[in-house]
Amino acid sequence: MTITATDFDLVRAFVYKQSAIVLDSGKEYLVDARLTTLARSCGLAGVSEVIRELRSGRNAAIEAKIIDAMTTNETSFLRDIRPFDTLRELVMPELIERRGTTRSLRIWSAACSTGQEPYTVAMLLDTHFPELRSWNVKIVATDLSTEALATARSGRYSQIEANRGLPAPWLVKYFERSGMGWQIKSELRQRVDFQPLNLIRQWSLVGKMDLILCRNVLIYFDVETKREIVNRLEQQLAPDGFVFLGSAESMVGVSDKFARIPSDRSGCLRKV
Ligand SMILES: C[S@@+](CC[C@H](N)C(=O)[O-])C[C@H]1O[C@@H](n2cnc3c(N)ncnc32)[C@H](O)[C@@H]1O
Repeated sequence: MTITATDFDLVRAFVYKQSAIVLDSGKEYLVDARLTTLARSCGLAGVSEVIRELRSGRNAAIEAKIIDAMTTNETSFLRDIRPFDTLRELVMPELIERRGTTRSLRIWSAACSTGQEPYTVAMLLDTHFPELRSWNVKIVATDLSTEALATARSGRYSQIEANRGLPAPWLVKYFERSGMGWQIKSELRQRVDFQPLNLIRQWSLVGKMDLILCRNVLIYFDVETKREIVNRLEQQLAPDGFVFLGSAESMVGVSDKFARIPSDRSGCLRKV
């Protein structure tokens, strides 16, 4: 490991300011490994050169790449499965009934990483709720990471990524072969609108959401940041809308404006 304590503190403060991601002491190895990879990809000699560029305050490209490198983009199709059972069995039937007159639905995947989450929602809706094809359904998917968003927009996944969670019938129906991997068919790809959005900055979203998936991202923030984001999620959500958090996340100590659905253990919440 080459990163010094002073350099680690500099990176930690920079990443926190730009993304609210908390890099606790003990994460020196992670930062060192990710910045070493970044240095290589940018043709820089090593971590100290990356830090020198950061310290100069004049290399916006490196700054963006450092933030990208510090995000954890772990995701998969139908991740944790249970939330998508709840979505199919409980949330969608209720929303379809309530929105029967407007025939309009707005769904937001708030930290979509490389796109598997919003594409899962799009495939689930297409498979189980074909009546929605004549509705105005908008799926907005946002993330801070430019690289993750580029993959999401491309809709191209490796064999390994496709093997993680994607049921064979969905692979056959919604993907086509692309070299050694798979490409989401354009008809499905067009149903998801990918946009850059930093959860700690202003949200350029229009209108209330009926469903928000904010899964496996709050874990990277401290409690004040969680409270602030959850407050804004509450304002962005329709009064009868639903929110999904990750399976290891909860609103305990963060907000009393949401309650879990009785006997449901999928991370699904609604306003109290
Ligand atoms: C572990 S992934 C979760 C992906 C997906 N929601 C899931 O559960 O599978 C976390 C994502 O949060 C994004 N992220 C981290 N900080 C963020 C911020 N301040 N604003 C928006 N997205 C952020 C990262 O770029 C990363 O793609």
